[in-house]
Amino acid sequence: MSISFFVNGVLQEVEDSRAEGRLIDYLHDDLYLTGTKFCCGIGVCRACTVTVSKPPNPVPSPVISCSTVLATLDGSHVSTIESVARDGVLDPVQEAFLHNFSFQCGYCTPGFVMAARLLLDRLAVAPVPHDQLDEAIHDAIGAHICRCTGYVRYYEALRPLAEAAIVGEGAAQ
Ligand code: FES
Ligand code: FES
Repeated sequence: MSISFFVNGVLQEVEDSRAEGRLIDYLHDDLYLTGTKFCCGIGVCRACTVTVSKPPNPVPSPVISCSTVLATLDGSHVSTIESVARDGVLDPVQEAFLHNFSFQCGYCTPGFVMAARLLLDRLAVAPVPHDQLDEAIHDAIGAHICRCTGYVRYYEALRPLAEAAIVGEGAAQ
């Protein structure tokens, strides 16, 4: 028996004996996908955020890979930060964080990017009223810890993209 799931569209099969292994270790040690960062290791900082969807529900959710064991991923689709830029072209979220100097060391940034991308995708299909946008942004990235900056620049970068998403003016991949 084995556990099967997709990572960035590529099928992975893991022996049952590794069922209790952590997703972040699998990403780093087996797939050499090191863009997802390990920090607190106890599910607090969210630096290790990836997104996961599991049929029949196609809607992805943020998942903390340091606290997710492989057994729970059977049949799932995992997306990591390595899937966000396409053909060498940065995602609008990545561009916005760069241009707004949202980060310093950048260690927290992959987690912020995954959560922000998820928010924009959700807003595009299920817009919220304009006056609820700040709350939606806070819900998406407010729990992410950044030890370098004051968070404000992450919010400032994301806000215009979120506004564009609710009126259908882009910010999509
Ligand atoms: S490293 Fe996973 S939540 Fe901090
Ligand atoms: S930019 Fe360094 S932890 Fe966020």
